[in-house]
Amino acid sequence: MSDITLAFPAFVIPDTVETPAVCVVESTMQRNIEHMVSALGALDVGCRPHAKSHKSIEIAQRQIEAGCIGLTTATIGEAEVFVEGGITDIFIAYPLWFTSEKARRVSAMLERAAVTVGVSSRAGAENLVHFMRGSSLRIAVELESGEIRTGVATVAEALSIAAVVRDGGLALVGVFAHGGHSYAGGDMIATAAHDESRVLLETSRALRDEGFGVTLVSAGSTPTALLSAVPGITDERPGTFVFGDRQQSVLGAHRPEDVALFVAGTVVQVSAPYFVVDVGAKSLTKDLPKTVEGYGALPAYPRAIVERVYDHHGVVHARGGAMPAAGERVAIIPNHVCPITNLTRELVMLSDDGVETARWPIDASLRNS
Ligand SMILES: Cc1ncc(COP(=O)(O)O)c(C=O)c1O
Repeated sequence: MSDITLAFPAFVIPDTVETPAVCVVESTMQRNIEHMVSALGALDVGCRPHAKSHKSIEIAQRQIEAGCIGLTTATIGEAEVFVEGGITDIFIAYPLWFTSEKARRVSAMLERAAVTVGVSSRAGAENLVHFMRGSSLRIAVELESGEIRTGVATVAEALSIAAVVRDGGLALVGVFAHGGHSYAGGDMIATAAHDESRVLLETSRALRDEGFGVTLVSAGSTPTALLSAVPGITDERPGTFVFGDRQQSVLGAHRPEDVALFVAGTVVQVSAPYFVVDVGAKSLTKDLPKTVEGYGALPAYPRAIVERVYDHHGVVHARGGAMPAAGERVAIIPNHVCPITNLTRELVMLSDDGVETARWPIDASLRNS
């Protein structure tokens, strides 16, 4: 899909920045956080944002200050960073497979924070019980709602896993689902939101009927967050919304003007109709969602797309649009923001008029285990 019609912000790259660099317009990010918290609050649903999108303690603290009820992570390593940064309620929404080392790390976190982890199979529940029996760890069963990734597909399986957890002396606190099939776009966004809430409400009801004290009924993705936040859902876990990206703009999950993050690059060669930027796969990733064409969009060159990426080269096809001069600096909106923050160490924070105001470390980048 072409981005020509999407009105991305006209980002300004300050002279203080060496390219490639990941830049964030702070006011847009802050507005995104406040909007999500208040929109979910109006629906009486808590916001527990997925921190894999930003991996920054500073941003996590801003999310909590804005009213988020805790954080979500995918890994123990991310969770450790945020506990160290003072966050006291973390949901590792992932079916962890415990080892004695992972058990030691999670037990250490439990001394400082409430920690919930996911489980998605009976074998996983047995593994969990083996390593964490008698601890204060909280457990949530992952439900498959249509993405076909992890999670159980039937209420019976969820009940059976819950029983293993309870018999193992651990606290089963609820259920979660991720309606990732929303990323197909179009009608699939509403369908995925409905699928998430349906399986969550159905299974949480069955668990309560069996005497489980269900307090967590957690849905979430950026496209579905506001649509699956129906009565009975306790929290939503959107992550990408904090910065927005090209994919979410194309899906209509947020407005193009809500994109807060871009990768700053420099044009290193011009060979019409192509130009090459110093932003390649090591900055932009090779993430290529089905709903977009190419690896990134350039707000200043709306017809162009990053057609190919090599480690350090991004080959941009101008596609009949204007050409930049060699040496020009360009902003590139990545397709998917979450892996971008995992590849770099700092965010260059900008004012609305493109002045650098701070550098924030990406504390949890590369904390993939
Ligand atoms: C389990 C889980 N929850 C929440 C999210 C956040 O979704 P999004 O990136 O659409 O904001 C993800 C993203 O992959 C996820 O896997």
